Amino acid sequence: MTISSKVIFITIISSIVLLGCTSQNTPALRKVTYPANFKYTERKDLRSDMHELAIQMGGLDKALLKPLQQSPIEVEQQRTQVLSALKNMERIATNLKSGNSGANHPFMEDYMQVFVAQIDEARVAASFEQPRYYFAGKVAGACANCHKINR
Ligand code: HEC
Repeated sequence: MTISSKVIFITIISSIVLLGCTSQNTPALRKVTYPANFKYTERKDLRSDMHELAIQMGGLDKALLKPLQQSPIEVEQQRTQVLSALKNMERIATNLKSGNSGANHPFMEDYMQVFVAQIDEARVAASFEQPRYYFAGKVAGACANCHKINR
């Protein structure tokens, strides 16, 4: 082998090795970057669902801030706003729980289950003839409970 054909040979071999490395090492790298059950796209969906939850949380907060002395119409308007925020949260959380977009980690699933149950409880109490918002007021704490562990 002449020097130049040796160089070409080595160049070809190293390119093949490099190509092999880049394509094969990608999943390995990902395993380091993301927890086992997370795929990148799922995590992106999880984030956008979390933003949706935050928007609903804002709506709920606003509705709960209404003064206690209200006309019957205002009482029903407040109830409608509270129930709508809770229903949307439940829909988002149930969708996440079923693992469609990322909460398929066993930890997350358990917390999501508890979270959905808490929203349910809040929804029932808000639906009483005399609405009770005690549990609705605790939903923010339920968000925080999961964040403490899973973020
Ligand atoms: C079952 C667990 C769980 C519950 C319940 C939960 N979250 Fe999250 N949340 C997470 C995890 C995990 C992340 C981190 C996602 C990431 O960074 O990939 C997160 C991230 C977020 C983020 C940041 C998103 C971003 O772009 O980084 C916001 C905002 C958020 N959550 C709001 C809420 C609100 C509001 C609630 C309650 C109404 C809530 N979350 C309930 C698990 C939960």
